[in-house]
Amino acid sequence: MHLPVLLEESLEYLKVEPGKTYLDATAGAGGHLSAIAKRAGESSTVIGLDRDINVIERLGGLADLPSNIRLFHSNFSDIKSVLADSGIGTISGGILADLGVSSMQIDNAERGFSFQQDGPLDMRMDTTSSLSAHTIVNEFSEKEIADIIFHYGEDRHARAIARAIVKSRPIDSTMQLASIVTKSLARFAGKNSKHNKNPATRTFQAIRMAVNEELLSLEKFLEDASSCLEPGARLVIITFHSLEDRMVKQFFRTKSLQCICPPRHPVCTCNTRASLQILTKKPIVASSQEIDFNSRARSAKLRAAEKLDDFNHNDHP
Ligand SMILES: C[S@@+](CC[C@H](N)C(=O)[O-])C[C@H]1O[C@@H](n2cnc3c(N)ncnc32)[C@H](O)[C@@H]1O
Repeated sequence: MHLPVLLEESLEYLKVEPGKTYLDATAGAGGHLSAIAKRAGESSTVIGLDRDINVIERLGGLADLPSNIRLFHSNFSDIKSVLADSGIGTISGGILADLGVSSMQIDNAERGFSFQQDGPLDMRMDTTSSLSAHTIVNEFSEKEIADIIFHYGEDRHARAIARAIVKSRPIDSTMQLASIVTKSLARFAGKNSKHNKNPATRTFQAIRMAVNEELLSLEKFLEDASSCLEPGARLVIITFHSLEDRMVKQFFRTKSLQCICPPRHPVCTCNTRASLQILTKKPIVASSQEIDFNSRARSAKLRAAEKLDDFNHNDHP
């Protein structure tokens, strides 16, 4: 079962109210999506996207799915096309993204996300895309693999892990990969286990992020989603990875700047206008009660911003 993270906080920051349109860019098990649809009521339309076709088919088959929900199989980086195709165009209420994978995807060994159950090296959220974990692990160069593990997994032993992976090829299953990574880290034992995590956690996360080009999708989504918001509508993002959180924080900051002229510039010449107002100076994190109940909430960070209107003129002194 997938428990929605920071659910009440998401609804509060989205300011869910009747008669407006909302979009959940990561429908998953439908926890946030159904809660938004129920709270907004029948006078609203709520769009649910997911790049995993299994997610969309499962949600579409639920007898109790609120009738004001419309589902689309799409990468959220294509949000503009989805809104154009749906005839909705712009969002008056808000857009939510709860990043990463769902417990349903991790628990299905066949999807290859888990290092605790044996399965094929897949890790594709969108099963129609061509790049899988098998290709990265078996065909990428040692340097490319080390860069992925270092950059996305933030593992300082990335080179040692990549060397062990390349030496052990061919590698076909998740447990085989997990065991190779664990053995390659044995000599660093104690130094790597800051949070007593399984040693393969960072490598699996890194390969998953590379397979699904997660940061690239997020970068495009943030830009396009904010341009689809009507004034007063909100953008709420829940991240589980420091690189994603940094990207959201930086994006909100840039879009909330009124002027980027040098400080001593007497007159504004940059013509920058803030398009977003940041609602969360610091990220919202889960309470200890929620973490006790749902360990996945431990690393969740929620950031929210509100779209400003077009008359928000530059007020450079
Ligand atoms: C953490 S789960 C969302 C759970 C959901 N909020 C709930 O309450 O059930 C993340 C979902 O986002 C989807 N996803 C991840 N990246 C995506 C992207 N770029 N475009 C669309 N869906 C994406 C995954 O397939 C997964 O189903």
